[in-house]
Amino acid sequence: MIKPIRKAVFPVAGLGTRLLPATKTMPKEMLTIVDRPLIQYAVDEAREAGIEQMIFVTGRGKSTLVDYFDVSFELEATMEKAGKSLEPLAPTKVRNGEIVSVRQQQPLGLGHAVWCARDIVGDEPFAVLLPDDLMVGQPGALKQMVDAYAEMGGNIICAQEVAADKTSSYGIITPGETRGTATEVFGLVEKPKPEDAPSRLGVVGRYILQPELMDILGKGERGAGGEIQLTDGMAQLIGKQPFHALKVDAVRHDCGDKAGFVLANLALALDRADLRPRIEEFLASRG
Ligand code: UTP
Repeated sequence: MIKPIRKAVFPVAGLGTRLLPATKTMPKEMLTIVDRPLIQYAVDEAREAGIEQMIFVTGRGKSTLVDYFDVSFELEATMEKAGKSLEPLAPTKVRNGEIVSVRQQQPLGLGHAVWCARDIVGDEPFAVLLPDDLMVGQPGALKQMVDAYAEMGGNIICAQEVAADKTSSYGIITPGETRGTATEVFGLVEKPKPEDAPSRLGVVGRYILQPELMDILGKGERGAGGEIQLTDGMAQLIGKQPFHALKVDAVRHDCGDKAGFVLANLALALDRADLRPRIEEFLASRG
């Protein structure tokens, strides 16, 4: 029997050094794309996929991510008094217990951040979303993965073709048989040089994983960059459990990178009927 995916881990304890100085005092997941922070997009995507509990793995200086989803009595009272609509705050409303947070006390890597959620995840399959990978699709990327999981079970990672000279920025898949949009995963290599890459199929920030991964991550084995890598932990499940890569129908914006962040703002603003004319006018004026 395939257990449903009820919980999602959001590792948000990274330092975000590529976006400095903006991320000196502001978590990168709070940076705004058009009118809402990155974390809001990820939480909305998880809700759409049927996730009931969101586990934020935070670090020092990241409590604003949790506060964002709290009730802001003062703000709401002041707005009401001024006759302003509270509607714009609606996406930030959560059920009691819908969001919980744990601390990653040292930034020892993505694998370590996921492991920090082990007690809350317990003995269930779970999703992982990296909010700085903004995925725009209908339905959302995680919903597409959850639907595929309902048929295949096991572990499913989101994958995209990456440029040949960019393999060293991704976990790269050694592919097996492909059926439709799902490819069997025979191996995973973290950030290989182009000449060592087994394919151009790169892992992007959405995962459905089985709880046995937590024991593997708990061994604390260090990989690339001296960090506890999620990719290395997942690689140890291959051959023991079903493991597939899914090409989802969604556009990915890498908002952990300055150009990707600006392009995401541009793309999502152009998708908005209220903003599009002004932006198109500006772009036209720049030739
Ligand atoms: P990144 O590789 O983007 O690292 O992490 P980073 O620290 O956030 O950013 P840069 O490279 O310094 O600019 C991928 C994801 O893993 C989380 C990050 O928050 C991000 O969602 N992460 C990474 C942790 O939660 N803890 C870590 O120790 C490392």
